[in-house]
Amino acid sequence: APAADYQAENATISQGVVESNHAGFTGTGFVNYDNVTGSHVQFTVNAAQAGSAALTFRFANGTTTNRPMAISVNGGAAVSRDFPGTGAWSTWQEVTVDAQLNAGANTVRAAATTANGGPNLDRLAV
Ligand code: GCU
Ligand code: CA
Ligand code: CA
Repeated sequence: APAADYQAENATISQGVVESNHAGFTGTGFVNYDNVTGSHVQFTVNAAQAGSAALTFRFANGTTTNRPMAISVNGGAAVSRDFPGTGAWSTWQEVTVDAQLNAGANTVRAAATTANGGPNLDRLAV
C-alpha cells in the first residue's frame, strides 16, 4: 500500500509547539520540540494488518549537533536514531526505523534524549 502520512502538527505533542516559520514542510507546519530531554511527539498509526513496517520521519535540524531521539511503538522498547544536522532549518531529510505494528491502532512516539531536544519534525510516513 502507498505510505500514509501522519503530520506531526496533528499528533499529540508534549513539550513542543506547532510552527510554520521555516519553509519546506508538508501539511500545515511542523513541531518545534522544546529543547529539553523528554520532549516528544506521539502519533497514532493505523495498520491494516500486523507485521513489520517502515516508519519514515521527515525532519530538519539547522544546527551542527545531532539530536537523537528514542522511537518507541506501543510503549515497547525504544530504539535510538540519529537526527543529524541537515544544513538549515528549511532543509528536510528523512530517517527510517523498521518496527513491528499490530493490526489496527498503534502509538509511535519520538522522544528527545538530550537537552537539545528533538529536531523540527514535519511528519511520519508509514
Ligand atoms: C531555532 C529555530 C527553531 C528550532 C530551534 C532549536 O529557534 O527557529 O525552529 O526548533 O532553533 O534549536 O531547536
Ligand atoms: Ca526546538
Ligand atoms: Ca507537517
